[in-house]
Amino acid sequence: MSLPPAGRIDAFAAIERTALSIEGQLTPKEIRFLCLLAAFPTCAGEVLEIGSFKGRSTTVLAKAASLAGQGAVVAVDPLTSPAATDPSLGGQSSGWADFQANLERAGVRARVEFYRERSSALAARRPAARRIRLLWIDGDHTAAGAKADLAFFAPFLADGAIVALHDVLHNDGGPARVFAEDLLLSPGFGPAGLCGSIGWSQWFADPAGCVPYRRAKLRLYRRLQRFIPYVAFGGDIDGWAKLGYKLARARIPHGEVSPAAWRAKVRFHPLAA
Ligand SMILES: C[S@@+](CC[C@H](N)C(=O)[O-])C[C@H]1O[C@@H](n2cnc3c(N)ncnc32)[C@H](O)[C@@H]1O
Repeated sequence: MSLPPAGRIDAFAAIERTALSIEGQLTPKEIRFLCLLAAFPTCAGEVLEIGSFKGRSTTVLAKAASLAGQGAVVAVDPLTSPAATDPSLGGQSSGWADFQANLERAGVRARVEFYRERSSALAARRPAARRIRLLWIDGDHTAAGAKADLAFFAPFLADGAIVALHDVLHNDGGPARVFAEDLLLSPGFGPAGLCGSIGWSQWFADPAGCVPYRRAKLRLYRRLQRFIPYVAFGGDIDGWAKLGYKLARARIPHGEVSPAAWRAKVRFHPLAA
């Protein structure tokens, strides 16, 4: 059963506390924003996560989606940190045991339909009828990896779906490029923004619906254009370049997003919960 909007927002603080008890890099501000994306469906469809690690964002998505009366969220990760950009497993060969234990402790194990494999494998056999209303991309952060993840699952987006990528404002570079080139410069994406290092945008089946958002998207794109040269090839940033990186990053709006402001910015499909 879905909670009224104020009840959903009130529940975010408890989700944030649980999520912060799980190893991961999502910040409190990002957790609250991810709660918002999951708890307020913009259209009918599933929540799909690429890249679960120890289950921090998985837990947020599962708990927040349930506030809207939604069933299990889908998550995919081989849990072996296969990409060069992945966090370390601290000597373990797999994060599976920790992931399961964390989901169990958070009380969301039954709310996650988990696939222990690469995103490409899941996408290859996904039935066309399973539409996605929130695509959360937090897997391989190389430019090729993040681009491929969007391409694998874009055909399954429902009209009005949100696509969100983590680590857009990070030195890995891939998510920044995909956010800038494939969301902001795409005629198919409308409202867009950042909260912390989460870059998001809403996809419309009819690109005409995106036209009113072009100027705002281009403004954001220009800010990212100054940032991308510092992160385009990944790796550490030192010396004067670090100063330039920080200045370029500071000029990109990425502060806290209020639930009211976000809900006024996106469009809700009549069938959304
Ligand atoms: C940055 S971590 C995810 C963090 C997680 N979302 C959280 O909240 O803590 C990246 C994860 O992506 C996974 N990954 C890397 N390549 C992948 C791929 N091709 N398909 C699915 N997952 C992948 C890694 O195993 C790793 O656990």
